Amino acid sequence: MEVFVYHTPELTPADTLPDCAVVIDVLRATSTIATALKVGTCAVQTFSSLTDLVNASQQWPASQRLLAGERGGAKVEGYDLGNSPLDCTPELMAGKRLFLSTTNGTRALQRVTEAKTVLAGALINRQAIVNYLLDHQPQTLWLLGSGWEGGYSLEDTVCAGAIASLLTQTASYQVGNDEVIAAIALYQQWQDRLGELLQQASHGQRLLRLGCNQDLHYCASLDILDIVPMQMGPGLMMTF
Ligand code: MLT
Repeated sequence: MEVFVYHTPELTPADTLPDCAVVIDVLRATSTIATALKVGTCAVQTFSSLTDLVNASQQWPASQRLLAGERGGAKVEGYDLGNSPLDCTPELMAGKRLFLSTTNGTRALQRVTEAKTVLAGALINRQAIVNYLLDHQPQTLWLLGSGWEGGYSLEDTVCAGAIASLLTQTASYQVGNDEVIAAIALYQQWQDRLGELLQQASHGQRLLRLGCNQDLHYCASLDILDIVPMQMGPGLMMTF
């Protein structure tokens, strides 16, 4: 088995897809997806386009849907929610379908939507994702960071390193590209200070300016959710 890290969707090879892709958007889309599923949302349907989100959500009964939209870190006006994992409570979400569009994370999910298996990974569910990968052993695995508008994001690469460091300690997974080694080195350097790293990251700074301090704290917590969000239809994330 080979594991590859790509920092952004733009850096992935254009002509191929892996057996399994783990899409990572620590701040905050994949942290929100994992949390929403943990508190009882029946599914999170993801869209890169807000128009597509609105059209699809209208096919769903109003009492059973929630619309979450984020652009530039802020909630899209008129939506029920932005993209804070801390807004995901059982009272609000249990039994509902969450329709979600974010600046980068949902776009990264779309890039690999045709892969055989697509998972949503974050620091909060890192161990659950690793357990799935060790049990199912896909031949080729991409750990795909969402980045920020085509650029590199520290927090996604440190999470890729956190996953890859556990996988490559086993005999099952070989390093597929240099980015894996770099991501593991980043994780090893910061593993005891993940909160500090997220505060230094450019999107962490953006979220701090928007007052989202608690989101950073939560998203930096390692292995707190035993949830594997898996794509069950195009863009449709459910619990495995
Ligand atoms: C994104 O998709 O870019 C993010 O999840 C942004 C955020 O809500 O912090």
